[in-house]
Amino acid sequence: MANLLIKNIEIVTMNEKNDIFVGDIYVEDDLINQIGENLPISHADKVINGKGRTIIPGFVQTHIHLCQTLFRGKADDLELLDWLKKKIWPLEAAHDEESIYYSALLGIGELIQSGTTTIVDMETVHHTDFAFQAIAASGIRALSGKVMMDKGNEVPKNLQENTIESIQKSVDLLEKWNMYDQGRIKYAFSPRFVVSCSEELLKEVSRLSNLYHVYVHTHASENRGEIEIVEYETGMRNVTYLDHLELANERLILAHCVWLDEEEKRIIKEKKVNISHCPGSNLKLASGIANVPNLLDQDISVSLGADGAPCNNNLDMFNEMRLAALIQKPFHGPTAMDAQTVFKMATIGGAKAVGMGNEIGSIEVGKKADLVILNLNDFHTYPMFDVNPISRIVYSATRADVETTIINGKVVMENRIMKTMNKEDVL
Ligand code: GUN
Ligand code: FE
Repeated sequence: MANLLIKNIEIVTMNEKNDIFVGDIYVEDDLINQIGENLPISHADKVINGKGRTIIPGFVQTHIHLCQTLFRGKADDLELLDWLKKKIWPLEAAHDEESIYYSALLGIGELIQSGTTTIVDMETVHHTDFAFQAIAASGIRALSGKVMMDKGNEVPKNLQENTIESIQKSVDLLEKWNMYDQGRIKYAFSPRFVVSCSEELLKEVSRLSNLYHVYVHTHASENRGEIEIVEYETGMRNVTYLDHLELANERLILAHCVWLDEEEKRIIKEKKVNISHCPGSNLKLASGIANVPNLLDQDISVSLGADGAPCNNNLDMFNEMRLAALIQKPFHGPTAMDAQTVFKMATIGGAKAVGMGNEIGSIEVGKKADLVILNLNDFHTYPMFDVNPISRIVYSATRADVETTIINGKVVMENRIMKTMNKEDVL
């Protein structure tokens, strides 16, 4: 592996003190080895001149469906259950090995280009091995898994699995991919949502996630129609039911959670369950607006995700951050979701949600080098040099401002006007 030195760059650390300063970062193999001023370039294989640029921790998106990338534009203007039945499930059923692979690769390209370095991803019921191959080839950090669906009147027969088979296929994929590339890839059990999963399946997922110590990633309390079905069938609300099946713990990620009752919030808080807030998707599917300020006030873990491409038409974290901030302000006042809070959810908050708070999510010595270099000198911010870069990033940056993305110390995207140099050029 190569060693990398990034010189004279504005560093948004997201460490405990939220330090922001201009300095150098030295990356050795996959780790941030040194942060300081005038670091020697003698050991660096590659030097990046960061002058006038800003470096941030790579974004962590805690809810993505790579298998849905190709469906963009094919599933608009519907609510969740109709959207699934009429559009998404038939499209997922039509996937083959190649289309899954390229769907995943296309989504990952978009994510990396817009500064996301870690994802929690959910695939469809079949061909998930090909999505893992795309994840492996791309260099992105991911927790991913095969969707599990073994019941539901509305689920098409060609997507419905037998319970045992669903579990066996998941375990086979787990054994193949969990901890691949020194843990860059991890398996996460992905029962789709309570509506499509039997009690037997969910109980087994609970047992296996404890046995293998892996995450469980599912949707919960997203849409009123979905909640009605769950209440009718189980007599409980989503989170109460998942807790009843012993799934509520710190390794559970619940996407959406728009409509939580007090009991559900109590369980989430007590059991340290993680919520993935997907503001773009919640708006486009007309699901509602989650009361995130209220969740954060209770110290509940809330991170961000773009959901699938057809849920909001892009996988861009800049978009999600801006929406997360803006949609709350009319209800909770202008300071409710300030830029710092939202940026934290997108970086260190997401890192903690995936159990990697000590490894990613901030720029600190000893952490993995998952870094994104931005050029914020665009006309819409220039020349406000005294403005906090976090405010610029949350309220006005776009994916076009991303110049370089580094994951595990490896430059995975480098383009536009970013100037990279050989050692000799800097000497
Ligand atoms: N609930 C169950 N499946 C899905 C899905 O694919 N997307 C979203 N947004 N919600 C779901
Ligand atoms: Fe989703």
